[in-house]
Amino acid sequence: MAPSIRRSDARPRARRGDGDSQGGSDMSGAQLYDTIGAAYTATRRTEPRIAVQIWAALGGARTVLNVGAGTGSYEPPDRDVTAVEPSALMRAQRPAGAAPCVAAAAESLPFEEQSFDAAMAFATVHHWQDPIAGLREMRRVARRVVVFTHDTSDTGWRRRFWLTRDYLPEVADLLVGRPSLTELARAIGARIEPVLVPWDCADGFFEAYWRRPEAYLDEQVRRGVSVWTRVGPEPEQRAVRSLRDDLVSGRWAERNRDLVALDAAELGLRLLVA
Ligand SMILES: C[S@@+](CC[C@H](N)C(=O)[O-])C[C@H]1O[C@@H](n2cnc3c(N)ncnc32)[C@H](O)[C@@H]1O
Repeated sequence: MAPSIRRSDARPRARRGDGDSQGGSDMSGAQLYDTIGAAYTATRRTEPRIAVQIWAALGGARTVLNVGAGTGSYEPPDRDVTAVEPSALMRAQRPAGAAPCVAAAAESLPFEEQSFDAAMAFATVHHWQDPIAGLREMRRVARRVVVFTHDTSDTGWRRRFWLTRDYLPEVADLLVGRPSLTELARAIGARIEPVLVPWDCADGFFEAYWRRPEAYLDEQVRRGVSVWTRVGPEPEQRAVRSLRDDLVSGRWAERNRDLVALDAAELGLRLLVA
């Protein structure tokens, strides 16, 4: 069934800046991806083990809305998908034959109530100007909502992930003023499931290389993750220098020797299912 369009004038509004105190990016999520998005497909793609968890959470949904869809990762191939993506650069990189994509933002979805069996959002909520409004919109247009995000309030996670703990503490500044996971879940009445990150995760998101530290020295890997742009060039270069030194000296291996035996890590990534 074709989704019923309500309005097509949705535009992302300017976003309260995050990262600006670090000399980093102060743009809306869509503007940011119109700037950095060209590097995305080099390292970002569907991780099959995480996809299995997401597609199971979609249940029997036949029509699925993918909000903040980017280039189309995690869109289930066996269902009727409609994508929503505000960045023109990201829309332009959707592969031939990908699901149809509407130019709109999560906070103002141009669809009627209950237009879809399910709405999903992967690694995008932290870019929205108003995450709670966006989640409520998903709830409005779909009977089921599945959201992959991270637990911003979990200081234990930030201490546990060596990249933020030892090299890039500025990540904490990006989280200031953002709703907690509990607030996000409460907004749509969601349950929360942990999502483990496999050691060889195919999707190069920020936490993906937790057991492959050399990857973060690669400029191409960093350009596929907005965090590095958001913190700004000075913290980025300092973190990379410091990590390189610790890899050469053996300090990283010494500090993180317990990771080598793990096949998957709990790094605060979560699925909200409502
Ligand atoms: C990290 S990418 C994730 C893309 C895709 N979901 C994936 O898993 O590869 C974040 C996406 O969120 C989009 N975005 C930013 N602000 C948004 C908003 N207000 N509403 C919907 N999407 C937004 C960006 O343009 C970008 O494509």
